[in-house]
Parts: sequence; structure tokens; C-alpha cells
Amino acid sequence: MKSVSNVGLDNVQTVYSGPEGDLWELIMGEQIHIGGFASSNALAKEAGIKAGMSGVDLCCCNGAGMRFLVRMFNVRKMYGVDATPSVVQEGIKRVKQEGLADKIHFTQADVCGSGLESNSADFVWGEDAWCYVVDKEKLISEAARIVKPGGIIAFTDWIEGNLELATNEAERFLKFMKFPNINNMDDYCCLLKKNNCELITAKNTNLFAPCVDLYLNMLNMQLTYDALKIINFDFDLMQAMAAEMVFMQHLAHKGKIAQGMFIARKRN
Ligand SMILES: C[S@@+](CC[C@H](N)C(=O)[O-])C[C@H]1O[C@@H](n2cnc3c(N)ncnc32)[C@H](O)[C@@H]1O
Repeated sequence: MKSVSNVGLDNVQTVYSGPEGDLWELIMGEQIHIGGFASSNALAKEAGIKAGMSGVDLCCCNGAGMRFLVRMFNVRKMYGVDATPSVVQEGIKRVKQEGLADKIHFTQADVCGSGLESNSADFVWGEDAWCYVVDKEKLISEAARIVKPGGIIAFTDWIEGNLELATNEAERFLKFMKFPNINNMDDYCCLLKKNNCELITAKNTNLFAPCVDLYLNMLNMQLTYDALKIINFDFDLMQAMAAEMVFMQHLAHKGKIAQGMFIARKRN
């Protein structure tokens, strides 16, 4: 695991309560994760998500992943946990507007202490968000506590790739993204096994590099005005952020950062 100091939940809440969060939604869409619909679909299919199940989305943001699961996989109930008040409020508004409020519930809390019932969910879900959580050991132990015996933990996340990040690269990337640390594939596999889970899938989706190319193309070729408007037409900030995105693109193409997909079953 690579870490930086002085990045924590406060920083993440600031991102998702303000213009940076709006920028991510502009370039990624409502589902703020690499690969959008296709990535969620692949994760749900590979995890065996079925109609009638109940799930918990840890770091659910405005609940786009939960709406996807309810609509596309006929999941019966979803419980989302997120620590940023404004995204939880927005999520509650969106599920009401879309007529899904009876199926989707939000809890505003740190995922490391959500207070959700033990052994209660058929599956625990996460999409490209656990990279923000400081205490990954606690996070995985919470996921394993909440899921029923025999249930599934299914998530994608930003991970260190096959090629190791140099210290200065990790520091620059983590500070820009407001990630306190980043796991590699083995780190997550070990944590899942340590928490009484049998590993089913651990793989690189290979979506990171093409998607970051897409995001930069959209920003440069189509959405420049919209992005500038979100940040109050601050051209210097725009250039600084673009430079960090280009750095991220370089890391992704070198295989130093990736999107990992993980599926594990809690032992009975
Ligand atoms: C990238 S967004 C999640 C996107 C969402 N999974 C999706 O696919 O649309 C990251 C979210 O993680 C939340 N978050 C980060 N650390 C958290 C923590 N320790 N506890 C709860 N929520 C957290 C942030 O508030 C933010 O809403």
C-alpha cells in the first residue's frame, strides 16, 4: 500500500460537496466511476446479483449505483452509506424524483462505522470509492461483518497497477485525488481472505487508460466551457487540474494505476 499523510475524510467531503465533485459528475456522468454502466453491469453479472436480493453500497455518493441495481437487476432493497451530507441529500432527492424511495435508503456515516446490522445483506457493493477510505482494514472487516454468511462482497476500485508507483509519483497522484492511500491487488486479496472470505475474482478491468483518454478528450474537445463554468472561469485552476489529469493518464498507460474488480464470498 502507498500512502500520504494529511489527507483524510475532511478532504474527501470537501471534494464531494463542491466544484470538484461537480466536475467528476460532468466528465463521468451520474455514475461516478470508470466505465459507468458497462462497469456496473460487468460487476453485477460476475457477482451473480439476482432479483429479490438486498444490498449495501458502501460510499454510495448520490446513489447512482443503487438506482442501477434496482432498475437493471431488480434488486429488492438497497442501503447506501456515505459520509458527505450534500451527496446524501442529493441522493434522497433523486430517488424520490425517480419513484425509488421505497427501495433505496441512505445512511449518512463513515463506512468504517455505519452501524448497519451484522449478517444482514445478500451483498455488499462498492464502485471506485474505497480508495478514499483511510482505514482499509476496517472497511473490509465492516463489509464482511454486514454481509450474510454465503453472501457476496463485490467492488471495483482504483488500485496500484502491476508496475509499482515511485514514491514521488504516488505522492503527487494521491494528493491530487485526495486518496489517503492506495491498495494494490494483493493488498485487497489479503484483506478479503483475512476476513473469512473466499476470493472469486481479482482482476484488472483494463478500463482505466481508455477512460482517462476519453475524459481528457471530452474536457478538451467538448466540455471545456461547462468545466470552466463549474470552477468560476478560473483558467489557472483549469490548467493545473488538466496537468494532473495528464499525469494520471501517463500513470495509467504505464500500468502503474488501474481499476481492479474484486468479488469474494463470505464463508458460512
Ligand atoms: C467516487 S464517489 C462514489 C461514486 C459511486 N460509487 C458511484 O459509482 O457513483 C466517492 C464517495 O465516497 C464517499 N466517501 C469517501 N470516504 C468515505 C468514508 N470513509 N465513509 C463514507 N463515505 C465516504 C464520498 O463522500 C463520495 O461520495
